[in-house]
Amino acid sequence: MEKTKVAIVGVGTVGSGVARLLLDHGDRTARHAGRTLWLEKAVVRDVKKVRDCVLPAGVLTTDLNEVLSDPEISVVALLVGGLEPARTIMLQLLEAGKDVVTANKALLAEHGPELFDRARSLGRCIAFEAAVAGGIPIIANISQCLSANQVTALQGILNGTSNFIVHKMDDQGWSYDAALREAQRLGFAEADPSMDVDGTDAAQKLAILAHLAFGARVRWQDIARTGIDTLDTVDMGFAAELGYRIKLIAHARLTGDRLELSVSPTLIRQGQPLAEVQNNYNAISVVGDAVGDLFFHGQGAGRMPTASAVVADMIDVAVGRTPITFRTLELWSDRESKVSLVPFDDLPGRYYMRFEVLDKPGVMAQITSILGQENLSISSIIQHEPDPDSSSQETQPVKLVIMTHEAPEGAARTAVHRITQLPVVTGKAVRMRVLETPRKAR
Ligand code: HSE
Repeated sequence: MEKTKVAIVGVGTVGSGVARLLLDHGDRTARHAGRTLWLEKAVVRDVKKVRDCVLPAGVLTTDLNEVLSDPEISVVALLVGGLEPARTIMLQLLEAGKDVVTANKALLAEHGPELFDRARSLGRCIAFEAAVAGGIPIIANISQCLSANQVTALQGILNGTSNFIVHKMDDQGWSYDAALREAQRLGFAEADPSMDVDGTDAAQKLAILAHLAFGARVRWQDIARTGIDTLDTVDMGFAAELGYRIKLIAHARLTGDRLELSVSPTLIRQGQPLAEVQNNYNAISVVGDAVGDLFFHGQGAGRMPTASAVVADMIDVAVGRTPITFRTLELWSDRESKVSLVPFDDLPGRYYMRFEVLDKPGVMAQITSILGQENLSISSIIQHEPDPDSSSQETQPVKLVIMTHEAPEGAARTAVHRITQLPVVTGKAVRMRVLETPRKAR
């Protein structure tokens, strides 16, 4: 059988999974590729480090040149995280005539235009299924299977670590710190987990999906984002009382040539598929104008799910499928259509708001008056009875939760800011977006 020599650069969590699939299941990959994918080299920083895979003698090396200078190695999985040296290594690999498979979404989100231009000019390709939603084949689906459609909306849970934390806090009552530590132990989290929990990782993945689904030339830094790092279980309780769950949602919607993009903790109605996504699972709901609604669900992080996507890409590159689609799609090129990003203040949405207020006459009137002035219509309100044991019930703040109908983000922010300035409002307010079929404010 024909043999294609491949290499891995970086044998960490994902790299060791890729090595295991290539070495332990060579028959399977050979059947799908019609050739053997032969792991020739695995480049690491430290050959002595204990790894979760056993590599044949002579495969491990610290010298990237052993890959660059071997003309028989044609496909390389670049599984180094972060921007540098990953960017430099990617350019070196392309210039040495290799096609590159990567799971590094930060690299593509940051340096996509440069890397894709370089690959195109060298006649090489870059495959990146594993960069978004780990084991879920969302890149192939959007760029190939749905190519008869205009995607009009996409909502996703794109960060497994955040979903794991939110799910454990909501379902099991774990603390934020305990859930984050466990996500790190299980290998879902980035080396710097602040990128998981502050919405950066999801925004980088959404930027990649926006290129594919909407032909949008969008920088991840231009996507409005809020993370889960300030979530309070109090709000999970109120959300449950209202019939919702809170999830970190990456949102995209195309109306004409105007594209809404955002990443934020969002209330979703219980029972909707996105609301029920558990642990480190990712999910993406996609609406295409011909196909209608689709829902993808699976493990978005971790060794074997991500390795599954990487090895599938290696097979597609070796077979010659990826080079064709790569040339046709012209991602991150000037050919991409010019949809314009809706300014953050104009993003429509419904809102959950929570205030701490003094429990005395006229407070509700002051708050609803501001909401009215900012043209925000209330859809429901919760205020619980004060603690009957409290001696000073009027001066004891109580929690007031308001759900609104649809209104622009800017109006909601202004209203919350003005409300928090009222002397009867104590402490900080919480505001989150609500995802559901929008109804017009009355
Ligand atoms: N750290 C990411 C996550 C996995 O938790 O989803 C890689 O993208």
